[in-house]
Amino acid sequence: MNFRKTILITGGAGFIGSHVVRRFVNNYPDYRIVNADKLTYAGNLENLTDIEKKGNYFFEKTDIVDKQAVVKLFGKFNFDGIIHLAAESHVDRSITGPDEFVFTNIIGTVNLMNAALNSWQKVFVGKLFYHISTDEVYGSLGSEGMFTEKSAYDPKSPYSASKASSDHMVRAYNHTFGLPAVISNCSNNYGPNQFPEKLIPLAINNIKNNKPVPVYGKGENIRDWLYVEDHAAAIDLIFQNGKAGETYNIGGNNEWKNIDLIRLLCKIMDKRLNRSIGTSEKLITFVKDRPGHDLRYAIDSSKLQKEMGWSPIPSFEAGLEKTVDWYLSNSGWLENIISGDYGKYYESMYSGR
Ligand code: NAD
Ligand code: DAU
Repeated sequence: MNFRKTILITGGAGFIGSHVVRRFVNNYPDYRIVNADKLTYAGNLENLTDIEKKGNYFFEKTDIVDKQAVVKLFGKFNFDGIIHLAAESHVDRSITGPDEFVFTNIIGTVNLMNAALNSWQKVFVGKLFYHISTDEVYGSLGSEGMFTEKSAYDPKSPYSASKASSDHMVRAYNHTFGLPAVISNCSNNYGPNQFPEKLIPLAINNIKNNKPVPVYGKGENIRDWLYVEDHAAAIDLIFQNGKAGETYNIGGNNEWKNIDLIRLLCKIMDKRLNRSIGTSEKLITFVKDRPGHDLRYAIDSSKLQKEMGWSPIPSFEAGLEKTVDWYLSNSGWLENIISGDYGKYYESMYSGR
């Protein structure tokens, strides 16, 4: 088959990446979608079983830190666009082991941009390097205000510092070499297929199994939650309409204190598990805070809303219910993860906390 475009999606076996791959494979049958992923602990091809046999989907096991492997990948395919999601993504892991974050998030991004420049040879018409980033690059907010695209970078964790570094490299490659690049910075995602080291799936799994639900510090930190398919829809719009050199903020306009979010989740779980109201809340356990824990994130996504007509789903409760239902009806997915190395990580992270 002759494809109209060939698109590389890195990190497509991860949480957000798998939703982006599914969306592009289904919505653009005339695009060849190449998912390149190293399959780290967070990469799971089980996330893509529904589309893996489609004729426009291709998987390449590639480590983006391995320069030769990246060069080989770009030699095999002639990419028109790159949507770069591959990263080490968990803040707590960046505190216990920052090195991998430097390798993958910074060096991996530079390897991809060098390969794109080499492949495109200054003929940039119809080409785009789209870098997926996070609101955490802007640092932490007090009780007022929101991050806009003009907010100064002020990353506070090794994870956010590595993402900020990669954003700076992308901007520098756009400015210096003319690489047609866009960046989007998104708030906290939730939804199906999220690895259970992150707050919401970790809490769902622990509530289900009557285990303590660890809340860091006093649970007063605030995050702005966005349903993962809304993020995938925004990525699609930005990929099709984004202007090279621009940054777009993506957020749910949906701020929750961690403790309030966990209480809402407990209520939903009580209903779904036919427990009397208040049962799951008893599992909430306050534990030692995350070092350097950012207090509050809030994203102003009005640029994206105005320029591209994007908006997030209106009801957080409905999104959370959908997420809980997915985890409860996909217990095999969760069990496969818990029975692997993740079990050891959980013990070392939370025992004695
Ligand atoms: P994830 O940890 O679930 O998935 C990351 C994927 O990248 C995995 O499939 C993993 O195997 C792959 N990967 C890691 N190192 C690699 C390497 N060296 N080479 C190739 N592949 C590699 O992450 P996620 O939560 O889906 O996040 C995806 C992207 O979105 C990241 O860039 C992250 O910074 C960004 N982001 C995430 C959120 C969020 O709330 N999860 C919010 C904003 C931005
Ligand atoms: O803001 C976007 C970022 O959101 C992404 O760039 C990151 O990749 C993603 O991991 C996420 O980072 P957070 O650190 O905000 O997400 P996490 O799910 O780890 O934690 C959410 C909040 O809950 C945070 O304030 C820490 C707290 N927390 C987390 C865990 C895992 C707890 O209280 N208990 C926990 O066990």
